[in-house]
Amino acid sequence: MDFQLKTLTLSRAVAEKADALIVLFADGAIAGQDPLARLASEARKAGDLPDKAGKTLALYKPLAGASRSVVLASLGDGKPASVRSAVLAAVGAAKAGKPKRLAIVFAQAPDAAGLRAAVLAASEACYVYLTTTSKAEPNSVRDVLVGVADAPALKAAFDEAVATATGIEFAKEWGNRPANHCTPTVLADAARGLGKLPKIKCEVLDHKDIVKLGMGAFAGVAQGASEPLRFIVLNYNGGPKGEAPVVLVGKGITFDTGGVSLKPAAEMDEMKFDMCGAASVLGVFRALGELQPALNVVGLIPACENMNDGKAIKPGDVLKSMSGQTIEVLNTDAEGRLILSDALTYAKRFSPAAVIDIATLTGACVIALGGVRSGLFSADDALASALEKAGEASLDRCWRMPLDDEYSEGLKSNFADMANVAGRAGGAVTAAKFLQKFALDYPWAHLDIAGTAWKSGAAKGSTGRPVGLLLSYLLERAAGTAGAASGRAKQPAGKKTGRKARSAA
Ligand code: BES
Ligand code: MN
Ligand code: ZN
Repeated sequence: MDFQLKTLTLSRAVAEKADALIVLFADGAIAGQDPLARLASEARKAGDLPDKAGKTLALYKPLAGASRSVVLASLGDGKPASVRSAVLAAVGAAKAGKPKRLAIVFAQAPDAAGLRAAVLAASEACYVYLTTTSKAEPNSVRDVLVGVADAPALKAAFDEAVATATGIEFAKEWGNRPANHCTPTVLADAARGLGKLPKIKCEVLDHKDIVKLGMGAFAGVAQGASEPLRFIVLNYNGGPKGEAPVVLVGKGITFDTGGVSLKPAAEMDEMKFDMCGAASVLGVFRALGELQPALNVVGLIPACENMNDGKAIKPGDVLKSMSGQTIEVLNTDAEGRLILSDALTYAKRFSPAAVIDIATLTGACVIALGGVRSGLFSADDALASALEKAGEASLDRCWRMPLDDEYSEGLKSNFADMANVAGRAGGAVTAAKFLQKFALDYPWAHLDIAGTAWKSGAAKGSTGRPVGLLLSYLLERAAGTAGAASGRAKQPAGKKTGRKARSAA
C-alpha cells in the first residue's frame, strides 16, 4: 500500500481521482461554501452525521465529478484517539466498495499527532493476513492519498507515520505466521532480509556459538525441540560511531507448548504468538531502515521452540546461565525468562545506553492489565517515564508496575542461585524480578506484552504492538540527542510534531 501526502482543499478534494473519498470533520458546525462542506453541514444539522468520533455517513455519487463513494466522518474532539476511531470506521465503511484508490481528506488542518493517527488507522483497517491462506481476498486498497491544508508542514510526521505503519505491518505478519511457517530458522532468515536495508547488519548465531558463549539457560529451553535454535543480532548504525546504542531484546519462542510442564489444550494454538516480542524488534528495524534516524540500535532475538521430548529439560533441572548464575527450573513453562536472561547478559557487550526487553512473558500480566496496556517494569525513572510518554504519544500505551525487592523472595532455591518461578501471586512482577537479576549493569526496562501483542476470538491476530511505542521512544531519543541531524526533517517554527525534548534516558 502506498501513502501520499498532498495539500488539498475540500473543493479540490472532490476532483481527486479516487474510488472512495473520506472527509473528516471536526466538532461543531461545519463552515464553508463548497459543495462537500454544505452537504456535511446539512447532514450534521439533520442528525445524520452526529458529532461523535467514529460516526460516519456513506454516500453514493453524491456530487458531480466526485468519486463513486464518499464517506463523511466525524472527528469528535480531534484528539489522536478520536482520529483513530474515525478513520477506522470510515475506512471500514469505504472498504465495502473495494476501492483501489482511497483519498482521506481533513476538512480542518490536523496537528502532527492527528495526522500520524490517521495514517496508522488507515493502514490497520486495510491489513489482511494472506500468507498461509488460499482463498482470502487481498485488501483492494493500493493507494491512499492523505489531504491536508499544508502538506509541507506535516511531511516529517507523515514520513514517520508511514514508516511506523510499515514496521507494524511487518511485526503483524511475522506474529501471525503459524509456528510451522515461522521456525527459528525462518525467523532468522527474515532478520537477514532486514540486513539488506541501509545501515542495518544482521548476524545469526547457532547452537555451537551459544554453547561457546555459555548460554546454558537458552540452550536448555531449546534442547527439547528438533528445530534448531537461532540467536539473531541486528545492528542499526544511524548515529555516530561509538555512540552507546539502545538494545532491544525480543522474546522469540516460535511455539510454547509449556514443555514437560505442559500447557492445557484450549487455545494452545495462540502460543504461536509467543514470538511477538521478537516480531516487534523486527518491525522496529524495518521502520528504522526506512526512516534512518540518527541513533544506534541493537536488536537481540533468542529464538527457539519450547517443546517436550526425551531431551527436554525437566522440573528440578538446574541450568547455568551465561551470567554464571545458576537457575533451578521449577516450571518448564516459565521459559521466556530463561532465554531472555542469556540475551540480557549478552547485551552487556554493547555498553548500552538502555536495554529494553519485549516479551509475551506472563499470563499474570494479562490478568493484571488485559489487552489495553502493556506492563512496563523499570527501576530507572527517566527511562520508565520516556517509555510511558512514548506509549501515550503513539496510542500504544503501557502502565508502570512495581519492582520492590520483596517480590523476589519467592524466587529463592535450595539447589541453585534462583528458581525460575515464584508462587502465583504477582506473577508478572516476579517474572520481571527474575529478569532484573540479569540486567543490573545498564538502564533497563521490561515490557510484558502478553495481553497486548495479539487479539483472541473472532478478531484473532497479531496487533503489531509495541512497535509504535518503541519507534516513538527511539525517534524522540534521536531528535533529543542529535536534533536536526537526526534525519527527521526539522519542523518549521510553531509547527511542532507534538514531541517535546526528552530527558537523558
Ligand atoms: N508465553 C507464556 C505467557 C503467556 C501465557 C502469554 C498466556 C499469553 C497468554 C509464558 O511462557 C508462560 O507460559 N508463562 C507462565 C509462567 C508461569 C509458569 C510462572 C504463565 O504465565 O502461566
Ligand atoms: Mn511458557
Ligand atoms: Zn512463553
